[in-house]
Amino acid sequence: MIRQKIVAGNWKMNGSKESVSSLVNGLLEMENSGSEVVIAPSFPYLSQVDGLISGSRIVLAAQNASQEVKGAFTGEVSASMLSDFGVKYVLVGHSERRSLYGESDELVAAKVKTIFEFGLTPMLCIGETLAERESGKTLEVCERQIQAVIDLVGISAFEQLVVAYEPVWAIGTGLSASAEQAQEVHQSIRAFLAKLSESVAEKVQILYGGSVKASTSSALFQMPDVDGALVGGASLDAKEFIAIVKTAG
Ligand code: G3H
Repeated sequence: MIRQKIVAGNWKMNGSKESVSSLVNGLLEMENSGSEVVIAPSFPYLSQVDGLISGSRIVLAAQNASQEVKGAFTGEVSASMLSDFGVKYVLVGHSERRSLYGESDELVAAKVKTIFEFGLTPMLCIGETLAERESGKTLEVCERQIQAVIDLVGISAFEQLVVAYEPVWAIGTGLSASAEQAQEVHQSIRAFLAKLSESVAEKVQILYGGSVKASTSSALFQMPDVDGALVGGASLDAKEFIAIVKTAG
């Protein structure tokens, strides 16, 4: 099955009105390609970016959402608010949220459920730490993180969401997983899902994230189970991000 590639840029907590404007204007010079191009600015810039990308092929994502729908949750942002700003994807379970803000597998699953309720598409981030990889627990960790979501929303939900495999040891370190290492895990994730539904496993798009650059993305995208990338640092440079998109074809 041919799955469309997605190249998503997670800007994390970076940017200003001025830098956001110049980054988006740079990205708007991108030529058309067969992949879906997604950018995830910080919350305050969603409206600005939504306006700037209007009429272009760039798709908007948010970096997080509350598991709650509305009410007395100071500082939180709901999925329904995000749907007001042309957001299509919402990152959920990013390793920085899991490790720095204590988000459990169950909380991540609850967020996935709420994001779906408002018609948005969760981009579910999973991945192991270096210690977990070194003790041979990579798949156990990825499967546990996925299972928590299956337990709450069911396997069929994986037809609608996107998985981003991001080994924690590769994030922001400059040390990307090799294309072969990424393929091995992506294939195993697909095989894990296939035990419950072969058709869902065939359809689900699995992105790789962790120090992706234009110099490494081409090899990653040639792997049969790598359906795109979730790019952090390199997505803050319009030229570099465009070069990554080009390698996706
Ligand atoms: O969401 C993106 C990932 O955390 C990857 O970040 O490309 O800076 O390693 P990075």
